[in-house]
Parts: sequence; structure tokens; C-alpha cells
Amino acid sequence: MRVATNIAVLGTQWGDEGKGKIVDMLTPHFAAVARYQGGHNAGHTVYVRGQKFVLHLIPSGILHPGVTCVIGNGVVIDPQALFREIDELAKLGISVEGRLLISEKAHIILPYHRELDVLSEARRGERKIGTTSRGIGPAYEDKIGRRGIRVCDLLGDREALAQEVRENVHARNQIIKDSTLDWQPVFRQMVEHGERMRKWVGDVSVFIAGLMARGDRVLFEGAQATLLDIDHGTYPFVTSSSASVGGVCTGLGVPPRAIGGVLGVAKAYTTRVGEGPLPTELEGALADRLRESGQEYGASTGRPRRCGWFDAVVVRYSARINGLDGLALTKLDVLDGLKEVPICVGYSTSSGPITEFPADLRLLAAATPIYETMPGWSAPTKGVTRFEALPLEAQRYVRKLEQITGVPCSIISTGSDREETIVAPGSVVERWLAYA
Ligand code: IMP
Repeated sequence: MRVATNIAVLGTQWGDEGKGKIVDMLTPHFAAVARYQGGHNAGHTVYVRGQKFVLHLIPSGILHPGVTCVIGNGVVIDPQALFREIDELAKLGISVEGRLLISEKAHIILPYHRELDVLSEARRGERKIGTTSRGIGPAYEDKIGRRGIRVCDLLGDREALAQEVRENVHARNQIIKDSTLDWQPVFRQMVEHGERMRKWVGDVSVFIAGLMARGDRVLFEGAQATLLDIDHGTYPFVTSSSASVGGVCTGLGVPPRAIGGVLGVAKAYTTRVGEGPLPTELEGALADRLRESGQEYGASTGRPRRCGWFDAVVVRYSARINGLDGLALTKLDVLDGLKEVPICVGYSTSSGPITEFPADLRLLAAATPIYETMPGWSAPTKGVTRFEALPLEAQRYVRKLEQITGVPCSIISTGSDREETIVAPGSVVERWLAYA
């Protein structure tokens, strides 16, 4: 019997690890790509016939004909953002018809959730999160507060929807002082959105179970990353969903045994957008050097990313939380030409050195990284497709990361093109794909 391996591809740091390229590269081996959390706060950059395209909500699998793209119940959907993306894809000649499935249980980002996001940030003042201002947090708040509006609500009983919208708008009017939003235009808009969405809506859990029963494979696509996970990330400086592997089960309605393997994507250094501690953060010329050669500007918001050295404490922590089988190490080429490349192997704190990622952010914020410094390399790694062809120092750097994080590098990305990639012979990725 053919055993089909479904795999999860997720971020191991603070997002923007380059998951888009890795998912894009693996997609031809899968029948479906399924997003399990987050919303249009994500930004996956892909290239369509040389043209740069940023996907926010629809899985990047959409660029591969024949692959079904699934938006799970764990995702929050801003219908306007969704339609915008669908229309832009259509302009590029890519149709989503018959290839998009949206969970009827996914929650809706209402027009005023954006406003509440901005307001909540303003009220936090110094302690602001640095959100993407897309209304993600407030939409998840309504979900957990059991007053959220789901995709199926837009398609069902109009009276019930009217009541839900009325109550939600009333709750919102109580939060925003001196503001009296009328619920009726919101209701009408929701009905319209529902009608446009209707043909794509269905039961995601049933669909995935059907694929699996036929021996077809699904790629579970994570957005944001483990250190932004609501439970395991640097709380409160996190996003509001389960970005780590647990989110696959709750966000799609699949059992744990459906996940045959987990690939963690890690940048060869570290970046972060938004607020919150980043122990290996660099300032000045070195930070600029990484930011410019890595083009470290947010795909969704254009914000410059904070940059630092590779933090092995973080990636080892991610490996444990997610049970990583392999790493996809990205942007190795950005480190080309550096004299030396430090790796953070632990933190020095007021209560002594630690090597496990702490829950207490105050401790983390005051921690000083303990570095092991590796020699850099001057020959380029850019575009290299075989491990042995990498400069020796780059090989040693990769081996060191594997040793400290305890996870083998199954994929090494040496540039943004699909071809600029090393797939380690005999790695888990090769084994997973061998079933294709
Ligand atoms: P929110 O998801 O908009 O609520 O933002 C919460 C935190 O997650 C902020 O620090 C954002 O910068 C960060 N964040 C959200 N989405 C992404 C992403 O796709 N990449 C990197 N950071 C993100």
C-alpha cells in the first residue's frame, strides 16, 4: 500500500523565514496546500513569471495548477482582502475556480476589527505589540469570546446574522468612545461577501479526510512562526493564533496522526518585525548590512525588520515544540563575505546562564547572548546547489547549527529562485517526496 506523507511546513523563529519559497518548491508533490491559522497579516513572497507577487491569505500552492488551496477554520478571513487577492491573481491569469476551499467554520474579520486593532495598540502606549493593524487580534478575541461571526453565518439564516452583527456592533460601540457605528451597512456588506464566497465554502475536515483516504498528500502551511505563537511565543508580543504544529489539528480538523512530518524553516540569522525582545539583535552597520543584503522589509507592511545573529536557543526550542524532522535553512547567501559569524548558544541572565528558552520576558529582555563564533567565508554560496560546493566555512557553519539545534538541515536555500536550493541527499525531505 502506498503511504502518503502529509507534512507541515512552519516557521521556527519570528516569521519571515522564507516559508513561501519552500512551500512553493514542495507544492508540486502535494494534492492540496492547507493554511491552518493567521490571516492576511502573513505575506508570502513568490515570483510568477519573473513578477513578484505577495500572497497573504491564499496558500502559495495556488500558483501550481491542479493543487487545491485550503483555508482552514483556524484562519481569520477579511473578505475584502480575500477578494482583492483573488482579483489580483485573476489579472495574472491564475484562476482560483474549483481550486479554493474555505472552511465554513473560519471566523470573519469585520470592518471595524482593524480600527479596534489600531486603537488597542494606541491604548497600550509603550507596551504596544507592533501588530500589522489588520484586525487579526480583535477577530480572534471575538472568536474566543464566543461572539465571533463565522463564514457559515454569512451563508445561513439572515435574521440570525442580523442579530449577531447588531450585537457585535453594539459591543464595539461600547469600546470606542463617542462612536455609534450603524450595524445595518455592516450586515448588508456581510451578506454580499457571503454570496461572493459561497461557491468556495465547504467542510475542510471532510475534504482532507477524503484526500487522505485516496492516498493523496496534503501540505500544512504555517504562517507567522513558533516564537509568535499565542501559547509558545514571546507573549504578549505574539500573534493571536497557534502558529506551531498544534495549530494544524485544531485549525483544520485533522488528527495528529495525519501529520507525517514537520519541516521547520529557519533563516541563517534572525529577524523580527514588531516589538518584543530579540536577544541577538544587532545595531548599526552590521544590522544594516544584514537588512540590506537580506532585503529585510516586511512583505505585508514594508516595515524594516530588526536583524540579529542566529539564535540556536530559539531554534532548538522550536524543534522541541514542533517535533521537527528537518530544517529548511534559508538565506545562507546573505552571510557571504562576513569575516565571522556568531551563533547564540545560550543566554547569560541575572540567575546564571540558561540554554532553554525562558517564559519570563523580563528575564529574556535582560539576557545577554552567549556566542560561539564561527569563521566566515568569502567565496559566494549564492546559487550553490550541492552541499560539497559550499565554501568549507559555510559547510562548518551549517554543521554547527545542526549540532546545536539537534535538527538536520534537509534543505538549504542559497537564493530566492527555486533552483538556488540544496536538498540534502538522504534527508527526510527526499524520503517524503519519494512517495510522490
Ligand atoms: P498581528 O498578527 O497583526 O496581531 O501582529 C502581532 C505580531 O506578529 C507583531 O509583532 C507582528 O509584526 C507579527 N507578525 C504578524 N504577522 C507576521 C508575519 O507574517 N511575519 C512576521 N511577523 C508577523
